Amino acid sequence: MGLPRRQTGDHAAIAAARDLLGPAGVIDAPADMARYLVDWAGDTPGSALAVLRPASVAEVQAAIRLCRIHHLGVVPQGGNTGLVGGGFGALAQAPIILSLERMNRVRAIDPAGYSICADAGCTLQHIKDTAEAADRLFPLALGAQGSCQIGGNAATNAGGINVLRYGMARDLILGLEVVLPDGEVWNGMTGLRKDNRGYDLKQLFIGAEGTLGVITGVELKLFPLPRRTETAYVGLRSFADAMQLFARARGVCSDLLTGFEVIGAECLPSARLINPGLVTPVDEKAPVHVILECASSEAIDLAALVETLLQQSLESGLILDAVMARSGSQARAFWAIREGLVEGQVRRGYHVRTDLSVRLGDIPRLVDSARAFVAANHPAWLPQAYGHAGDGNIHFNVLPPAGLDEDAARKEGRDITDGLYAVVGGFGGSISAEHGVGRSRRDVIWTGLSPVHRLLVAAIKSAFDPEGLMNPGCLLPPNEEFP
Ligand code: FAD
Ligand code: LAC
Ligand code: ZN
Repeated sequence: MGLPRRQTGDHAAIAAARDLLGPAGVIDAPADMARYLVDWAGDTPGSALAVLRPASVAEVQAAIRLCRIHHLGVVPQGGNTGLVGGGFGALAQAPIILSLERMNRVRAIDPAGYSICADAGCTLQHIKDTAEAADRLFPLALGAQGSCQIGGNAATNAGGINVLRYGMARDLILGLEVVLPDGEVWNGMTGLRKDNRGYDLKQLFIGAEGTLGVITGVELKLFPLPRRTETAYVGLRSFADAMQLFARARGVCSDLLTGFEVIGAECLPSARLINPGLVTPVDEKAPVHVILECASSEAIDLAALVETLLQQSLESGLILDAVMARSGSQARAFWAIREGLVEGQVRRGYHVRTDLSVRLGDIPRLVDSARAFVAANHPAWLPQAYGHAGDGNIHFNVLPPAGLDEDAARKEGRDITDGLYAVVGGFGGSISAEHGVGRSRRDVIWTGLSPVHRLLVAAIKSAFDPEGLMNPGCLLPPNEEFP
């Protein structure tokens, strides 16, 4: 196993790629490649020989075969919104970026069959809009949905704010079409909801982060478009109270509950960096804020249900205050607070970002322990606890104190990250709930796996990609170093 780099043929490879894909299919000028080589936060630059932009499945096959002949590692790239450095790498390991951005057609929608087929390069927003125009819902929802691609969502098994009711990307995918590392196509777009003919191969590509093949097509489940949506913004005393509210909301609203997001009040100044005029719907001093959303058909009096939940919670003293959105635009304003705090943190520059998950009951203690760790060891740093609490998933980020030199911040940030990982380890949790492994979390996750787990992962990789062509250095160590 291994992919020895043969640099002498690089120019020939690029010329051959131009012949195969046309001038629009190859980018190799450094200035033009720049946007493919830096992540959303702008803090982990990569390098590449060229960006290939095939416009069809046949062109993806041709590009893969060419890279194989020339021993050039291939990194599939979608919308480049991934948060773990999986979509580009260092030149030595990952010379070719294969962008799916020109494969952006919805192939077919079947409203009666509640499914949609699309090229992998369609943005998530395009899929959602197409479904909605056909009176259907595609429920995957995340802050990057205008830019991330459905192929990237599949490759990372993306989560987001509707997982509670509809599951992660894995739960929403009916079928995939994949170009394999030898250039063959595996067509798993059967449209079947039930199919027990042995191994479910599509599941291996979901969450594989481009290490087993290039996803070129997806077939997705659609759902009835909700006729009613109720969004509430709630102020509470603590994460423990928030989780009690969650338990109550599940009881009262059952599966109509679609989202339950928590925001520690300490995150609000970050949101205000994006929206300086921001006014929170409840008293900003409430230590924890929750955005809760339910959706249903017209036959259900959803407003009454959510009002009952909030009224009972107020009367029992569980919550401090709550506001139900009176209009779609007010609901969007609630959600803008949640989106703004993420952007605001990036605007602050380098910061520690995590994606932790624990059992639901452990969320309050996780947040308390993580805060206590930072307060005791890095008292000048500012924790920001928020996330998809209904899924047991907290993004516990930590901002460096203003004025700290970036190099020093990065150094200390590594210690903070290690400390937070130790905290989540104490709960038997995961240090990657939904963002994946990529390159930035690879080593810590790989070394944390049991030997038998590592052997199984390496065996799967070898079975699909014996030459180590696909996304070298992402998710598992470079070929020569594993298992
Ligand atoms: P990229 O970043 O381009 O690639 C990600 C990985 O997938 C890489 O390893 C790449 O090689 C691989 N890949 C991409 N396309 C393909 C393909 N066609 N075939 C094979 N492999 C491929 N994530 C969540 O889970 N939940 C959130 O709530 C969430 N919120 C976010 C909010 C913001 C503001 C941002 C910037 C990101 C957020 N993310 C979230 C992370 C990110 O949006 C998701 O991981 C998304 O699924 C990545 O899609 P992408 O098309 O941008 O993939
Ligand atoms: C979010 C991303 C960062 O939940 O996962 O905002
Ligand atoms: Zn998230």
